[in-house]
Amino acid sequence: MASLGLLFILICLVAALSRGKNVREKIEQWKTWAISRLPHLPADPVTSSSPAEKTQKEEENLRYALPPLQPKTSSRTSMGLKRLEKSNWLTVDAHYTSEHQVRNYLLRTSHPNVIQCLPGSEAACHEVLSIAVDFLITRFPDQFTMEGESITNHIANESFLVGPDCPNPLEVAARLAMEDFNILMKNSETGEYHLQASATLFPAGWKLQERIGTTMVNLHGPVPSWKEKMGGAVNRYFDHLSAKTAMERTNLFIQSDPHLFSDAPEVPAGQEKKTIPQDLQVRRERQTFTRLEKTGAVLFTVRTYMQPVEELGDEEAVALIHQVGGWEEEIKVYKGWDVWGKAFEEWCEKRFGR
Ligand code: HEM
Repeated sequence: MASLGLLFILICLVAALSRGKNVREKIEQWKTWAISRLPHLPADPVTSSSPAEKTQKEEENLRYALPPLQPKTSSRTSMGLKRLEKSNWLTVDAHYTSEHQVRNYLLRTSHPNVIQCLPGSEAACHEVLSIAVDFLITRFPDQFTMEGESITNHIANESFLVGPDCPNPLEVAARLAMEDFNILMKNSETGEYHLQASATLFPAGWKLQERIGTTMVNLHGPVPSWKEKMGGAVNRYFDHLSAKTAMERTNLFIQSDPHLFSDAPEVPAGQEKKTIPQDLQVRRERQTFTRLEKTGAVLFTVRTYMQPVEELGDEEAVALIHQVGGWEEEIKVYKGWDVWGKAFEEWCEKRFGR
C-alpha cells in the first residue's frame, strides 16, 4: 500500500509539474520514470502457485482471469510468447452466457462471415472438436457432460453430436467454447502456413472471408513491418511447435465502442467520429498456439476480453498509459489513434492530470 501511495504522489507531482504541457508529453514523462515506481503487479495466480496449491485450485471451476495489464518495458514489436498453462487452455467465466448469446446470434445471422472451412481441413476440424470436448468435460465437469456421442452444455442447456459423424465440428467447438478457433496448415510447395479453417466470431477489425486460405504474411498485411520484424520468426516457431510446447500471448487494442464482432475499421475512410472518454474500451485477446497431434496442423485460439477504460483500476490505468505511450507512430496509426486518440488524451488528463 505504501508503494501505491508513493506512486500516486509521484504521478500527481509529474502532473502538476507538467501542467500546461500537452498530454502526450505527460505520457512520455510517465513512461520514462513513473513506471519504475509501480508496485509489483500480482502474477497469474494459476501459473504462480505451488503444485499442491495448484491441484486444489484446479478443482475449482470458472477461475481463470486474464492477468492485469502490465507496462511494457520495450517499445519493440515482439512475439511476446509465454508457456501455456494447459489447464487454462479454454476458459469459462462469468461472461459465458452473454457472449454465448452473441455467438449464437452471429452464427444464425452471419454464418459465412464467422465460419469458413476449406476442403482438406475436415480432419483437423474434427481433431479440434475432439480435443475441445475432452478438455471441457474434464476441466468443467459440472458444465459439460457426455452421453453417448453427444455433449451437453449445462450452462446453455444445449446438446450436440460430436463424434466422427458431426457435420460441422469447428462450428460446434465454437458454440461450446468462449474461444475462436483457427487452423493453419503448412503448404508443402511454398513452405508457408495458410489459414485453412476458422471460426472467428469476434474479429478485431478484419474480414474472415477476405483472409481465409491466405498465408501468415497476407493475414498480417495491415500490421506495420510484420513481415520484416516477425514473419521469419513466426514461421520457425510454427515449424518447431509441438503438442508439448504450447504457448500463449496477448495483444491489446483500444476501441471506441464495445462491439466484440468488429470486422472493419471503426470509422470508414473519409468519415469522422466524435469519441468521448466514456466510449473507450480496452480490447485484449488471449491467444494460444498448439500443434494438433494427429493431423499436424497448428491450432490458434483467441479469447477476446473487453473492458471500459474508465473501469480500470489505478495500476492498470497507469500500465495502459505506459503501453500506449510506448507504441511507435505507425503502430498508433494502425491501432486507430485517429479515432480514439483525442478521447484517450482527455481521459488521461481527467484521471491523472489535475
Ligand atoms: C506467434 C504468432 C503470431 C504473432 C507474433 C502475431 C502478431 C500479430 C501482431 C503484432 C498483430 C498486430 C496487432 C497486435 O498488436 O497484436 C497481429 C494482428 C493480427 N493477427 Fe497475428 N500474430 C500471430 C499469429 C497469428 C495467427 C496464427 C493468425 C491466424 C488467424 C493471426 C491473425 C492476425 C490477424 C487477422 C490480425 C489483424 C490484422 C489486421 O489488423 O488486419 N495471427 N498479429
